[in-house]
Amino acid sequence: MEVVIATIVELENKAMRVESNISLLPYNTFGVDVLCSEFYQYSSVEELEKLFQEGLFASKWLSVGGGSNLLFLQDFHGAILHSSIKEIEVTQEREQDVEVRVGAGVVWDDFVAWSVEHDLGGVENLSYIPGCVGASPVQNIGAYGVEAKDVISEVEVFDTQTGSVSTFAGSACSFAYRHSLFKTNPYYIVTYVTFRLTKSPHHKFSLSYGNLLSVIEGNGVEPSLRSIREVVVNVRKSKLPEPSVLGSAGSFFKNPLISIAQFKDVKERYPNVPFFEVGEEKIKIPAGWLIEQCGWKGKRVGNVGVYDKQALVLVNYGGATGSEIESLANDICSSVHQEFGLKIEPEVCFIR
Ligand code: EPU
Repeated sequence: MEVVIATIVELENKAMRVESNISLLPYNTFGVDVLCSEFYQYSSVEELEKLFQEGLFASKWLSVGGGSNLLFLQDFHGAILHSSIKEIEVTQEREQDVEVRVGAGVVWDDFVAWSVEHDLGGVENLSYIPGCVGASPVQNIGAYGVEAKDVISEVEVFDTQTGSVSTFAGSACSFAYRHSLFKTNPYYIVTYVTFRLTKSPHHKFSLSYGNLLSVIEGNGVEPSLRSIREVVVNVRKSKLPEPSVLGSAGSFFKNPLISIAQFKDVKERYPNVPFFEVGEEKIKIPAGWLIEQCGWKGKRVGNVGVYDKQALVLVNYGGATGSEIESLANDICSSVHQEFGLKIEPEVCFIR
């Protein structure tokens, strides 16, 4: 690997970190060791504007937050942009709720911890999700019955095509399961996200997912922001690998949405298939269950494998390349298709 030369570039009196030919190992939770040509860590919209004026966005670039949903397949011959916009600010306070504007570079779980500490409800079920706030609207992150879309009131973006700033109301973001307009229009860089959080006595807890309520009651405590956060953190720790110990990107695949006819076909052969109804015409089946039925859970192939506690998660045992992980993912998709006639799609973004 080439020697890293770090320089500090002064742009409009703000310091932006710029480096060349650095490893992206610290910037992807899968732990894939690839290089990028240029790395820019910015801390303001003005710095993005300056980069726009310099023509940076005319060449290959990618905005990376915590890198918890990316799979680098090779060295990245372009510029990686990493947000260091870190503010958390209450911008409006009403009787029952508040608007909190959060910089894209804030670590997601730091924001959740901040909300719980300030008795503000809405994101406690989303505790311990890796990554940064800027990725939350892009993926519409979700867990334990709550999705980011339920609490996002506004998303501010920098448009790299025009160099201008826009604000989207939450209702205009085309949010769906692990989807938003930012996913299909990757020329937007999320700079700030505003969340509507409920003041504690007015907040309605979301406890209907799985055995969340019974676990809290089993602990002998009342549901509260703190107890929900604690249970969710513990459940996630027990089911999902710590990226610092074992590389992964959380769920590798999305849970497939299938038709009633397809579901009947699966149920005939597997009467105990777990499922969630989505509207009147669609059924969601856990991809982890499908993969487990195909015998993949806990299997290791060279440097990569399927996590033994949650088959939806692919892991890097150390030294894996993106292509090894991609190849395992392809084999899993083929197995699921062969056994169930169903197509499962990656949630993770493949970067070439
Ligand atoms: N299941 C199995 N075997 C497995 C895994 C799951 O049979 O190896 C079955 C079980 O029946 C279980 C059901 O699947 O009851 C659901 O499992 P789980 O509660 O773990 O949820 P999931 O559908 O597998 C989704 C999200 C997770 C999120 C959990 C909890 C997606 C792609 N994943 O997983 O999100 O934490 O629900 O809400 O929707 C992530 O996006 O990175 C992520 C971890």
